[in-house]
Amino acid sequence: MTRGRIGARALRDQLGDWRGDAPAYESLSDRVRLLLLDGRISSGIRLPAERELAEALGLSRTTVAAAYRSLREAGFASSLQGSGTTTQLPHSRPGAPAVGGTLIGFTHASLPATKLLSTVLDDELLDDYRGHFDTIGYDGVGQPGLRQAIADWYGRRGVPTDPEQIVVTTGSQNAIALAAKALVSRGDRVWAESPSYPNAYDALRDAGARLITTPVTVEDGWDMAALEAAFQRSAPTAAYVIPDFQNPTGRSMSVRDRERFLEAAAGAGTVVIADEVTSEMDIDRHAVLPSLGALADAHGAEVVLIGSASKQIWGGLRIGWLRATPQLARRIAAERGSTDLAVPVFEQLVVERLLPRSAEIVEERREQLRAGREAARAAIAELLPDWAFPARLEGGLAAWVNLGAPVSSQLALAAHARGLLVAAGPRFGVDGAFERNLRIPIAADPEDLRRGLEVIAELWPAVNRFARPDFESYAGTVA
Ligand SMILES: Cc1ncc(COP(=O)(O)O)c(C=O)c1O
Repeated sequence: MTRGRIGARALRDQLGDWRGDAPAYESLSDRVRLLLLDGRISSGIRLPAERELAEALGLSRTTVAAAYRSLREAGFASSLQGSGTTTQLPHSRPGAPAVGGTLIGFTHASLPATKLLSTVLDDELLDDYRGHFDTIGYDGVGQPGLRQAIADWYGRRGVPTDPEQIVVTTGSQNAIALAAKALVSRGDRVWAESPSYPNAYDALRDAGARLITTPVTVEDGWDMAALEAAFQRSAPTAAYVIPDFQNPTGRSMSVRDRERFLEAAAGAGTVVIADEVTSEMDIDRHAVLPSLGALADAHGAEVVLIGSASKQIWGGLRIGWLRATPQLARRIAAERGSTDLAVPVFEQLVVERLLPRSAEIVEERREQLRAGREAARAAIAELLPDWAFPARLEGGLAAWVNLGAPVSSQLALAAHARGLLVAAGPRFGVDGAFERNLRIPIAADPEDLRRGLEVIAELWPAVNRFARPDFESYAGTVA
Protein backbone atom coordinates (compact mmCIF):
# COMPACT_ATOMS: atom_id res chain seq x y z
CA MET A 1 0.00 0.00 0.00
CA THR A 2 1.34 3.44 -0.90
CA ARG A 3 0.86 6.05 1.86
CA GLY A 4 2.51 8.99 0.18
CA ARG A 5 5.71 9.81 -1.56
CA ILE A 6 9.02 11.42 -0.80
CA GLY A 7 10.51 13.78 -3.35
CA ALA A 8 14.10 13.52 -4.58
CA ARG A 9 15.22 16.66 -2.76
CA ALA A 10 13.53 15.68 0.50
CA LEU A 11 15.18 12.26 0.32
CA ARG A 12 18.55 13.85 -0.46
CA ASP A 13 18.19 16.00 2.69
CA GLN A 14 17.30 12.96 4.79
CA LEU A 15 20.19 10.95 3.38
CA GLY A 16 22.71 13.49 4.64
CA ASP A 17 26.32 12.48 4.12
CA TRP A 18 25.58 8.91 3.07
CA ARG A 19 28.70 7.90 1.13
CA GLY A 20 31.02 5.34 2.65
CA ASP A 21 33.77 2.97 1.61
CA ALA A 22 31.42 0.56 -0.12
CA PRO A 23 30.28 1.01 -3.74
CA ALA A 24 27.87 3.95 -4.10
CA TYR A 25 24.79 1.78 -4.77
CA GLU A 26 25.44 -0.21 -1.61
CA SER A 27 26.03 2.83 0.61
CA LEU A 28 22.89 4.44 -0.78
CA SER A 29 20.75 1.38 -0.18
CA ASP A 30 22.24 0.98 3.33
CA ARG A 31 21.35 4.53 4.22
CA VAL A 32 17.76 4.25 2.96
CA ARG A 33 17.47 1.04 4.99
CA LEU A 34 18.60 2.88 8.12
CA LEU A 35 16.18 5.75 7.51
CA LEU A 36 13.43 3.16 7.40
CA LEU A 37 14.61 1.22 10.43
CA ASP A 38 14.72 4.23 12.69
CA GLY A 39 11.53 5.77 11.42
CA ARG A 40 12.91 8.76 9.54
CA ILE A 41 11.02 7.58 6.49
CA SER A 42 7.92 5.46 6.80
CA SER A 43 7.12 2.17 5.26
CA GLY A 44 4.66 2.40 2.36
CA ILE A 45 6.23 5.57 0.95
CA ARG A 46 6.93 5.79 -2.78
CA LEU A 47 10.58 6.58 -3.45
CA PRO A 48 11.52 9.13 -6.12
CA ALA A 49 11.82 7.94 -9.71
CA GLU A 50 15.32 6.63 -10.42
CA ARG A 51 16.10 9.44 -12.85
CA GLU A 52 15.01 12.16 -10.41
CA LEU A 53 17.03 10.76 -7.52
CA ALA A 54 20.04 10.23 -9.78
CA GLU A 55 19.86 13.89 -10.75
CA ALA A 56 19.42 15.12 -7.17
CA LEU A 57 22.39 13.08 -5.95
CA GLY A 58 24.65 13.58 -8.98
CA LEU A 59 24.73 9.83 -9.66
CA SER A 60 24.11 7.72 -12.71
CA ARG A 61 20.67 6.23 -13.08
CA THR A 62 22.25 2.75 -13.09
CA THR A 63 23.62 3.36 -9.58
CA VAL A 64 20.20 4.37 -8.24
CA ALA A 65 18.58 1.42 -10.03
CA ALA A 66 21.12 -0.91 -8.39
CA ALA A 67 20.43 0.64 -4.97
CA TYR A 68 16.69 0.14 -5.40
CA ARG A 69 17.28 -3.45 -6.54
CA SER A 70 19.39 -4.09 -3.46
CA LEU A 71 16.61 -2.65 -1.24
CA ARG A 72 14.07 -4.94 -2.90
CA GLU A 73 16.31 -7.97 -2.49
CA ALA A 74 16.74 -7.23 1.22
CA GLY A 75 12.95 -6.90 1.64
CA PHE A 76 13.00 -3.13 2.27
CA ALA A 77 11.19 -2.13 -0.93
CA SER A 78 8.84 -3.52 -3.50
CA SER A 79 7.82 -2.40 -6.93
CA LEU A 80 4.82 -2.98 -9.05
CA GLN A 81 4.90 -2.40 -12.78
CA GLY A 82 4.09 1.25 -13.43
CA SER A 83 3.84 2.33 -9.78
CA GLY A 84 7.48 2.89 -8.87
CA THR A 85 9.41 1.65 -5.85
CA THR A 86 7.72 1.66 -2.45
CA THR A 87 9.42 1.26 0.92
CA GLN A 88 8.48 -1.56 3.29
CA LEU A 89 9.81 -3.22 6.39
CA PRO A 90 10.69 -6.88 5.97
CA HIS A 91 8.51 -9.32 7.92
CA SER A 92 11.45 -10.61 9.87
CA ARG A 93 14.41 -8.35 10.15
CA PRO A 94 17.35 -10.09 8.61
CA GLY A 95 20.68 -10.94 10.13
CA ALA A 96 20.45 -9.66 13.66
CA PRO A 97 22.20 -12.14 15.93
CA ALA A 98 21.54 -10.84 19.40
CA VAL A 99 24.20 -9.62 21.83
CA GLY A 100 24.71 -12.55 24.20
CA GLY A 101 21.42 -14.07 23.06
CA THR A 102 19.18 -11.04 23.72
CA LEU A 103 18.48 -7.91 21.78
CA ILE A 104 19.69 -4.80 23.52
CA GLY A 105 17.65 -1.70 22.85
CA PHE A 106 19.28 1.71 23.13
CA THR A 107 16.43 3.37 21.25
CA HIS A 108 14.24 4.13 24.28
CA ALA A 109 15.35 6.35 27.14
CA SER A 110 13.13 5.00 29.90
CA LEU A 111 13.37 3.15 33.20
CA PRO A 112 11.59 0.01 34.40
CA ALA A 113 8.72 0.41 36.90
CA THR A 114 9.36 2.06 40.26
CA LYS A 115 9.61 -0.34 43.19
CA LEU A 116 6.55 1.38 44.65
CA LEU A 117 4.27 0.27 41.83
CA SER A 118 3.59 -3.19 43.20
CA THR A 119 2.82 -1.78 46.67
CA VAL A 120 -0.39 -0.09 45.47
CA LEU A 121 -1.78 -3.15 43.69
CA ASP A 122 -3.88 -4.14 46.67
CA ASP A 123 -7.49 -4.97 47.55
CA GLU A 124 -8.32 -1.36 48.17
CA LEU A 125 -7.32 -0.49 44.61
CA LEU A 126 -9.43 -3.36 43.25
CA ASP A 127 -12.43 -2.22 45.32
CA ASP A 128 -12.04 1.27 43.98
CA TYR A 129 -11.83 -0.14 40.45
CA ARG A 130 -14.94 -2.26 40.93
CA GLY A 131 -16.68 0.87 42.16
CA HIS A 132 -16.39 2.23 38.61
CA PHE A 133 -18.15 -0.70 36.95
CA ASP A 134 -21.55 0.95 37.10
CA THR A 135 -20.25 3.95 35.13
CA ILE A 136 -19.65 3.80 31.36
CA GLY A 137 -15.91 4.19 31.97
CA TYR A 138 -15.28 6.81 29.31
CA ASP A 139 -14.13 10.14 30.62
CA GLY A 140 -12.65 12.36 27.94
CA VAL A 141 -10.71 14.56 30.36
CA GLY A 142 -9.69 11.91 32.91
CA GLN A 143 -10.85 10.55 36.28
CA PRO A 144 -11.63 13.30 38.81
CA GLY A 145 -9.37 11.75 41.46
CA LEU A 146 -6.35 11.67 39.16
CA ARG A 147 -6.98 15.20 37.87
CA GLN A 148 -7.00 16.38 41.47
CA ALA A 149 -3.78 14.45 42.23
CA ILE A 150 -2.10 16.02 39.17
CA ALA A 151 -3.33 19.50 40.14
CA ASP A 152 -1.86 18.97 43.64
CA TRP A 153 1.41 17.76 42.12
CA TYR A 154 1.63 21.00 40.11
CA GLY A 155 0.80 22.97 43.25
CA ARG A 156 3.80 21.41 45.01
CA ARG A 157 5.96 22.46 42.05
CA GLY A 158 4.92 26.10 42.33
CA VAL A 159 2.22 26.02 39.64
CA PRO A 160 -1.16 26.42 41.38
CA THR A 161 -3.63 24.42 39.32
CA ASP A 162 -7.32 23.68 39.27
CA PRO A 163 -8.31 20.13 38.19
CA GLU A 164 -10.36 21.75 35.40
CA GLN A 165 -7.05 22.67 33.76
CA ILE A 166 -5.95 19.05 33.45
CA VAL A 167 -6.61 16.59 30.62
CA VAL A 168 -5.38 13.03 31.23
CA THR A 169 -4.00 11.43 28.07
CA THR A 170 -2.65 8.13 26.74
CA GLY A 171 0.96 8.87 27.62
CA SER A 172 2.32 12.36 27.07
CA GLN A 173 2.89 11.52 23.40
CA ASN A 174 -0.88 11.68 23.03
CA ALA A 175 -0.92 15.01 24.91
CA ILE A 176 1.64 16.49 22.50
CA ALA A 177 -0.31 15.21 19.49
CA LEU A 178 -3.63 16.54 20.82
CA ALA A 179 -2.16 19.95 21.65
CA ALA A 180 -0.58 20.08 18.18
CA LYS A 181 -3.89 19.19 16.54
CA ALA A 182 -5.77 21.84 18.51
CA LEU A 183 -3.23 24.62 18.00
CA VAL A 184 -1.68 24.08 14.58
CA SER A 185 -3.27 24.39 11.15
CA ARG A 186 -1.75 23.06 7.96
CA GLY A 187 1.22 25.17 6.87
CA ASP A 188 1.64 26.98 10.21
CA ARG A 189 5.17 27.62 11.37
CA VAL A 190 6.08 25.91 14.62
CA TRP A 191 9.36 26.42 16.45
CA ALA A 192 11.26 23.55 18.06
CA GLU A 193 14.75 22.92 19.38
CA SER A 194 17.33 21.14 17.29
CA PRO A 195 18.08 18.44 18.30
CA SER A 196 14.90 17.38 20.08
CA TYR A 197 12.58 14.50 20.91
CA PRO A 198 11.78 13.11 17.44
CA ASN A 199 8.27 11.84 18.15
CA ALA A 200 7.28 15.42 18.99
CA TYR A 201 8.62 16.60 15.62
CA ASP A 202 6.48 13.88 14.03
CA ALA A 203 3.34 14.85 15.97
CA LEU A 204 3.79 18.50 15.02
CA ARG A 205 4.37 17.61 11.38
CA ASP A 206 1.31 15.34 11.39
CA ALA A 207 -0.72 18.35 12.53
CA GLY A 208 0.55 20.21 9.46
CA ALA A 209 3.39 22.21 11.05
CA ARG A 210 6.30 23.59 9.10
CA LEU A 211 9.11 23.27 11.61
CA ILE A 212 11.61 26.02 12.21
CA THR A 213 14.42 25.25 14.60
CA THR A 214 17.28 26.88 16.46
CA PRO A 215 20.10 25.04 18.19
CA VAL A 216 20.59 23.73 21.68
CA THR A 217 23.99 22.22 22.39
CA VAL A 218 25.55 20.17 25.15
CA GLU A 219 28.19 22.86 25.64
CA ASP A 220 26.21 26.10 25.43
CA GLY A 221 22.54 25.25 25.87
CA TRP A 222 19.98 27.32 23.94
CA ASP A 223 21.16 29.89 21.41
CA MET A 224 18.86 32.59 22.75
CA ALA A 225 19.82 35.25 20.21
CA ALA A 226 18.98 32.90 17.32
CA LEU A 227 15.78 31.86 19.06
CA GLU A 228 14.61 35.45 19.60
CA ALA A 229 15.42 36.33 16.00
CA ALA A 230 13.49 33.28 14.75
CA PHE A 231 10.44 34.18 16.85
CA GLN A 232 10.53 37.77 15.62
CA ARG A 233 11.00 36.80 12.00
CA SER A 234 8.55 33.90 11.80
CA ALA A 235 5.96 34.56 14.54
CA PRO A 236 5.42 30.82 14.99
CA THR A 237 1.94 29.63 15.95
CA ALA A 238 3.35 27.30 18.59
CA ALA A 239 6.72 26.43 20.11
CA TYR A 240 7.67 23.02 21.50
CA VAL A 241 10.40 23.14 24.16
CA ILE A 242 11.90 20.75 26.74
CA PRO A 243 13.23 23.15 29.40
CA ASP A 244 14.63 20.60 31.88
CA PHE A 245 17.14 17.85 31.07
CA GLN A 246 16.39 18.38 27.42
CA ASN A 247 16.09 15.22 25.33
CA PRO A 248 18.70 14.48 23.98
CA THR A 249 21.26 17.10 25.18
CA GLY A 250 20.48 16.86 28.91
CA ARG A 251 20.68 20.66 29.27
CA SER A 252 18.38 22.76 31.48
CA MET A 253 17.37 26.34 30.64
CA SER A 254 18.59 28.97 33.09
CA VAL A 255 15.95 31.13 34.78
CA ARG A 256 16.99 34.10 32.65
CA ASP A 257 16.66 32.05 29.44
CA ARG A 258 13.22 30.86 30.55
CA GLU A 259 12.18 34.49 30.93
CA ARG A 260 13.65 35.48 27.58
CA PHE A 261 11.95 32.51 25.97
CA LEU A 262 8.54 33.47 27.36
CA GLU A 263 9.05 37.12 26.38
CA ALA A 264 9.91 36.07 22.82
CA ALA A 265 6.85 33.81 22.67
CA ALA A 266 4.52 36.47 24.10
CA GLY A 267 5.90 39.05 21.67
CA ALA A 268 5.27 36.79 18.69
CA GLY A 269 1.84 35.56 19.86
CA THR A 270 3.23 32.01 20.09
CA VAL A 271 1.61 29.38 22.32
CA VAL A 272 4.30 27.44 24.19
CA ILE A 273 4.06 23.67 24.52
CA ALA A 274 6.48 22.94 27.39
CA ASP A 275 7.34 19.26 27.69
CA GLU A 276 8.20 18.59 31.35
CA VAL A 277 8.28 14.82 31.02
CA THR A 278 11.96 14.71 31.99
CA SER A 279 11.84 17.58 34.49
CA GLU A 280 12.09 15.39 37.60
CA MET A 281 15.02 13.33 36.31
CA ASP A 282 17.54 15.25 38.37
CA ILE A 283 20.78 13.48 39.29
CA ASP A 284 22.87 16.31 40.70
CA ARG A 285 21.69 19.63 39.27
CA HIS A 286 21.07 20.87 42.80
CA ALA A 287 18.81 23.68 41.63
CA VAL A 288 15.07 23.87 41.51
CA LEU A 289 14.28 25.83 38.38
CA PRO A 290 10.78 27.26 37.95
CA SER A 291 8.34 25.61 35.58
CA LEU A 292 7.50 27.74 32.54
CA GLY A 293 3.96 27.44 33.87
CA ALA A 294 4.96 29.36 37.01
CA LEU A 295 6.51 32.21 34.97
CA ALA A 296 4.01 32.41 32.13
CA ASP A 297 1.55 34.95 33.54
CA ALA A 298 4.23 37.44 34.55
CA HIS A 299 5.45 37.45 30.95
CA GLY A 300 2.05 37.40 29.27
CA ALA A 301 2.69 34.05 27.57
CA GLU A 302 0.26 31.19 27.05
CA VAL A 303 1.80 27.86 28.06
CA VAL A 304 0.53 24.30 27.75
CA LEU A 305 2.45 22.03 30.12
CA ILE A 306 2.96 18.39 29.18
CA GLY A 307 3.56 15.77 31.87
CA SER A 308 3.73 12.02 32.23
CA ALA A 309 3.82 9.13 34.66
CA SER A 310 6.08 7.24 32.25
CA LYS A 311 9.52 8.27 33.45
CA GLN A 312 8.76 8.45 37.18
CA ILE A 313 6.37 5.54 37.65
CA TRP A 314 6.28 3.35 34.53
CA GLY A 315 5.90 3.80 30.78
CA GLY A 316 3.71 0.69 30.65
CA LEU A 317 0.88 2.54 32.39
CA ARG A 318 0.56 4.87 29.39
CA ILE A 319 -0.66 7.76 31.53
CA GLY A 320 0.24 11.31 30.59
CA TRP A 321 -1.48 14.67 30.88
CA LEU A 322 -1.51 18.28 29.87
CA ARG A 323 -2.24 21.46 31.79
CA ALA A 324 -3.70 24.50 30.06
CA THR A 325 -6.29 27.20 30.76
CA PRO A 326 -9.68 25.53 31.37
CA GLN A 327 -10.90 26.83 28.02
CA LEU A 328 -7.91 25.57 26.04
CA ALA A 329 -7.96 22.27 27.98
CA ARG A 330 -11.54 21.71 26.83
CA ARG A 331 -10.63 22.61 23.25
CA ILE A 332 -7.71 20.18 23.26
CA ALA A 333 -9.80 17.39 24.83
CA ALA A 334 -12.35 17.85 22.05
CA GLU A 335 -9.66 16.70 19.57
CA ARG A 336 -9.51 13.17 20.95
CA GLY A 337 -12.67 11.93 19.24
CA SER A 338 -10.65 10.70 16.27
CA THR A 339 -7.91 9.07 18.34
CA ASP A 340 -8.54 7.41 21.70
CA LEU A 341 -11.74 8.92 23.24
CA ALA A 342 -10.57 8.30 26.81
CA VAL A 343 -7.90 6.65 28.98
CA PRO A 344 -8.18 3.28 30.82
CA VAL A 345 -9.60 3.68 34.33
CA PHE A 346 -7.40 1.17 36.18
CA GLU A 347 -4.11 2.82 35.28
CA GLN A 348 -5.48 6.22 36.27
CA LEU A 349 -6.32 4.86 39.73
CA VAL A 350 -2.77 3.53 40.03
CA VAL A 351 -1.20 6.87 39.15
CA GLU A 352 -3.58 8.71 41.48
CA ARG A 353 -2.14 6.65 44.35
CA LEU A 354 1.50 7.08 43.38
CA LEU A 355 1.76 10.75 42.40
CA PRO A 356 1.59 11.94 46.03
CA ARG A 357 4.72 9.81 46.62
CA SER A 358 6.69 11.33 43.76
CA ALA A 359 9.44 12.70 46.03
CA GLU A 360 10.29 9.13 47.10
CA ILE A 361 10.19 7.89 43.51
CA VAL A 362 12.43 10.69 42.31
CA GLU A 363 15.06 9.58 44.86
CA GLU A 364 14.94 6.04 43.48
CA ARG A 365 15.27 7.36 39.91
CA ARG A 366 18.18 9.61 40.88
CA GLU A 367 20.25 6.60 41.98
CA GLN A 368 19.35 4.55 38.88
CA LEU A 369 20.25 7.37 36.53
CA ARG A 370 23.45 8.12 38.39
CA ALA A 371 24.49 4.46 38.04
CA GLY A 372 23.66 4.51 34.30
CA ARG A 373 25.50 7.78 33.74
CA GLU A 374 28.62 6.55 35.50
CA ALA A 375 28.56 3.17 33.72
CA ALA A 376 28.24 4.86 30.33
CA ARG A 377 30.88 7.46 31.11
CA ALA A 378 33.37 4.85 32.34
CA ALA A 379 32.78 2.43 29.44
CA ILE A 380 33.17 5.19 26.88
CA ALA A 381 36.35 6.57 28.48
CA GLU A 382 37.83 3.08 28.47
CA LEU A 383 36.54 1.58 25.23
CA LEU A 384 35.82 4.53 22.96
CA PRO A 385 38.35 7.22 23.77
CA ASP A 386 37.64 9.09 20.49
CA TRP A 387 34.17 9.92 21.79
CA ALA A 388 33.23 12.90 23.94
CA PHE A 389 30.79 12.14 26.74
CA PRO A 390 29.13 15.40 27.92
CA ALA A 391 31.38 17.05 30.50
CA ARG A 392 28.26 18.23 32.31
CA LEU A 393 25.25 15.94 32.50
CA GLU A 394 23.19 16.74 35.56
CA GLY A 395 20.18 14.59 34.79
CA GLY A 396 17.78 13.36 32.16
CA LEU A 397 17.56 9.95 30.61
CA ALA A 398 20.25 10.05 27.94
CA ALA A 399 23.70 11.33 27.03
CA TRP A 400 24.22 13.10 23.71
CA VAL A 401 27.65 11.79 22.86
CA ASN A 402 29.91 13.30 20.23
CA LEU A 403 31.56 10.60 18.11
CA GLY A 404 34.18 12.93 16.69
CA ALA A 405 33.31 11.77 13.16
CA PRO A 406 30.14 11.91 11.02
CA VAL A 407 29.36 8.20 11.14
CA SER A 408 26.33 7.84 13.41
CA SER A 409 24.07 6.27 10.75
CA GLN A 410 26.84 3.92 9.67
CA LEU A 411 27.35 2.88 13.26
CA ALA A 412 23.62 2.34 13.85
CA LEU A 413 23.46 0.04 10.84
CA ALA A 414 26.48 -1.98 11.91
CA ALA A 415 25.13 -2.24 15.48
CA HIS A 416 21.74 -3.36 14.23
CA ALA A 417 23.36 -6.24 12.41
CA ARG A 418 24.78 -7.34 15.79
CA GLY A 419 21.47 -7.14 17.63
CA LEU A 420 22.05 -3.78 19.27
CA LEU A 421 19.35 -1.26 18.41
CA VAL A 422 20.49 2.34 18.56
CA ALA A 423 18.92 5.51 17.22
CA ALA A 424 21.34 7.37 14.98
CA GLY A 425 21.99 11.07 15.67
CA PRO A 426 20.01 12.36 12.65
CA ARG A 427 16.81 10.87 14.12
CA PHE A 428 16.93 13.81 16.58
CA GLY A 429 17.20 16.53 13.94
CA VAL A 430 14.97 17.71 11.14
CA ASP A 431 17.25 17.63 8.13
CA GLY A 432 19.81 14.85 8.36
CA ALA A 433 22.11 16.78 10.73
CA PHE A 434 23.80 15.22 13.79
CA GLU A 435 25.80 12.50 12.07
CA ARG A 436 28.47 13.19 14.70
CA ASN A 437 26.18 12.36 17.61
CA LEU A 438 24.68 9.31 19.19
CA ARG A 439 22.13 9.24 22.00
CA ILE A 440 23.12 6.77 24.72
CA PRO A 441 20.29 6.09 27.21
CA ILE A 442 21.71 6.41 30.73
CA ALA A 443 18.32 5.06 31.82
CA ALA A 444 19.42 1.65 30.54
CA ASP A 445 20.62 -1.03 32.91
CA PRO A 446 24.36 -0.47 33.68
CA GLU A 447 25.25 -4.02 32.57
CA ASP A 448 23.38 -3.61 29.30
CA LEU A 449 25.13 -0.29 28.79
CA ARG A 450 28.49 -1.94 29.24
CA ARG A 451 27.65 -4.87 26.93
CA GLY A 452 26.19 -2.59 24.28
CA LEU A 453 29.18 -0.27 24.36
CA GLU A 454 31.52 -3.27 24.11
CA VAL A 455 29.74 -4.28 20.90
CA ILE A 456 30.05 -0.75 19.58
CA ALA A 457 33.74 -0.64 20.50
CA GLU A 458 34.31 -3.80 18.44
CA LEU A 459 32.57 -2.22 15.45
CA TRP A 460 34.09 1.21 15.88
CA PRO A 461 37.44 0.81 14.06
CA ALA A 462 35.70 -0.41 10.89
CA VAL A 463 32.96 2.22 11.08
CA ASN A 464 35.34 5.03 11.89
CA ARG A 465 37.34 4.19 8.77
CA PHE A 466 34.47 5.65 6.71
CA ALA A 467 35.02 8.93 8.45
CA ARG A 468 38.53 9.49 7.34
CA PRO A 469 38.13 10.33 3.70
CA ASP A 470 40.49 13.12 2.92
CA PHE A 471 37.74 15.66 2.48
CA GLU A 472 37.43 15.88 6.25
CA SER A 473 40.95 17.08 6.71
CA TYR A 474 40.66 19.37 3.68
CA ALA A 475 37.32 20.75 4.78
CA GLY A 476 38.86 23.74 6.49
CA THR A 477 40.84 24.77 3.43
CA VAL A 478 37.97 24.89 0.94
CA ALA A 479 37.06 28.47 0.14
C1 LIG B 1 10.77 14.47 26.12
C2 LIG B 1 9.74 13.40 26.02
N1 LIG B 1 8.46 13.75 25.87
C3 LIG B 1 7.49 12.83 25.77
C4 LIG B 1 7.78 11.49 25.79
C5 LIG B 1 6.63 10.50 25.61
O1 LIG B 1 6.48 9.68 26.70
P1 LIG B 1 5.11 8.99 27.14
O2 LIG B 1 4.16 9.01 25.97
O3 LIG B 1 5.49 7.63 27.57
O4 LIG B 1 4.57 9.83 28.27
C6 LIG B 1 9.10 11.07 25.92
C7 LIG B 1 9.44 9.64 25.89
O5 LIG B 1 10.56 9.24 25.74
C8 LIG B 1 10.10 12.06 26.05
O6 LIG B 1 11.39 11.72 26.18
